[in-house]
Amino acid sequence: MIATMPININKVQKSRIDNVDFENLQFGKIFADHMFSIDFEQQTWQNPRIEPYDKIQFEPSLLAIHYGQAIFEGMKAYRTPQNEIVTFRPLENLKRLNRSAERMCMPALSEDLFMEALQQLISLDKDWVPSKNGSTLYIRPFMFATDELVGMNISETYRFMIITSPVGAYYAAPVKVKIETEYLRAAKEGGVGYAKTAGNYAASMYPMKLARQQGYDQVIWTDSRENKYLEEFGTMNIFLKINGKLLTPETGDSVLSGITRDSLIQLAKHMGVEVEERKISIEEVIKAIKDNTLEEVFGAGTAAVITPIALIGYQNTQYTLKPLDTNSLAFKLKKALTDIQTGKAEDIFQWMHKLA
Ligand code: COI
Repeated sequence: MIATMPININKVQKSRIDNVDFENLQFGKIFADHMFSIDFEQQTWQNPRIEPYDKIQFEPSLLAIHYGQAIFEGMKAYRTPQNEIVTFRPLENLKRLNRSAERMCMPALSEDLFMEALQQLISLDKDWVPSKNGSTLYIRPFMFATDELVGMNISETYRFMIITSPVGAYYAAPVKVKIETEYLRAAKEGGVGYAKTAGNYAASMYPMKLARQQGYDQVIWTDSRENKYLEEFGTMNIFLKINGKLLTPETGDSVLSGITRDSLIQLAKHMGVEVEERKISIEEVIKAIKDNTLEEVFGAGTAAVITPIALIGYQNTQYTLKPLDTNSLAFKLKKALTDIQTGKAEDIFQWMHKLA
């Protein structure tokens, strides 16, 4: 609790919730009634507040827009059968936010501040947490530099905010991916790939656009040194099942350390599946496709949950993968994970945190 710094709350006069079609939610297009904001000025966080979701005003010289000093997280709130509102491993998001902040020269947030902001915001907007299977309230915490100057400098002031959005599935269908060997997302040894910073996503847009023009949905990034090893999808971490083993690229300074990724590794091990976190070469994947030992490929992330891959493109060849059914490991892991998240299964790893 931040007893010394109470959050100032200004509620909406009239909720917009009645205008929302909860049966047909898309991803990230509508936002709940309130937002949390706090400013970092004179070396300290100050003025925590919850206000109606609205436009924010800054001068055109806002440093974050010009030099990209901006970081974010992705989380979700779930409604349990008992009508409680819970979230998943929130302190892992805070740890990653603070790792990103350190890399981008931004101030850290304390656990008390982060958790209190989350608790109060989600409690206030708890009616926005969908009850339909597969729909959730996506939570987007983010921080950006608020100095207003065009000199290239480390900002002295920042804003941290949390906005929330009722969402359906991120990908409505299995995705088609292209192994990217021409463009880079993140450089090894010293790059910023492990930070959840705006620039990593900006860098991925041009290759994603080219991939879309070729009929793909996403790219698989490969390592910046040799373009030989798989790293991650633009929006999720990668998992493959080859010969009964679950494989995922090891994390490092060029791969985002996904919380869903880590949770699936724990769940798979708990189910007795052998898991290897290691380098996975393109050659190994193509060989496994050709000798029929590649059983499953899927992406994992907060927004995407578990998304099956339908097709992999590499150089001039497209490899269609077999559709994943309810016997697949991807399906079993997704069910095990979402049952814990929505309070339908026992929280054996103590991952869930009650918000309201
Ligand atoms: C998330 O999974 O929460 C992310 O932040 C990925 C983003 C591309 C939606």
